Amino acid sequence: MKKLTGFKTKTAVFISGAGTNLKNLIRFSYNNNSPISIDLVISDTKKAKGLMYAKNNNIEEIIINFNNQNKSEKKIINILHKREIKLVCLAGFMKILSKKFLKKFKGKMINIHPSLLPKYKGLNTHKRALENNEKFSGCTVHYVASKLDSGKIIMQKKTNISKNDNVKSLKKKVLKIEHKLYPEAIRKIFA
Ligand code: GRF
Repeated sequence: MKKLTGFKTKTAVFISGAGTNLKNLIRFSYNNNSPISIDLVISDTKKAKGLMYAKNNNIEEIIINFNNQNKSEKKIINILHKREIKLVCLAGFMKILSKKFLKKFKGKMINIHPSLLPKYKGLNTHKRALENNEKFSGCTVHYVASKLDSGKIIMQKKTNISKNDNVKSLKKKVLKIEHKLYPEAIRKIFA
């Protein structure tokens, strides 16, 4: 991605839940040499705990209920254009966006997924990895394509699964490396 010299690229983060990745990306954006600023947070639910990180950091937050997907997506596209958002980071956003929407943001929308893709696309990644007695798990940052969790991979990070791990401990382990990986992957796309 091209970066205008002297300016940070305006970025929106889409969330639905806890928002630990959002919190981490906000912190990252404050680094002088970070290529991005977080200018907008979009959530599909006002219940998303992560919204507090937008509030605490005076970042604009918008709740879009997806009752009517077509209308909601049109609204989002308008907002993103008005705010001159050039990069969208999905971080635990639970809605599946339409092909039409994704086409508009091709190459400008990335996601973090809690597995070593192409393994364990979709939900319950940790449970499935444990059930399959995997020795490793990890996380992936990838471009968003219309097929779920199938866009071009930008970067991955691996962690080991120990015998004592359960869903909770593995989730914690993976989140820890997610928080390292997302900023690294963002740096990479601007390199
Ligand atoms: C993360 O595990 C991310 O990989 C997945 O959803 C979770 C979001 O966590 N897409 P948080 O809301 O950032 O804490």
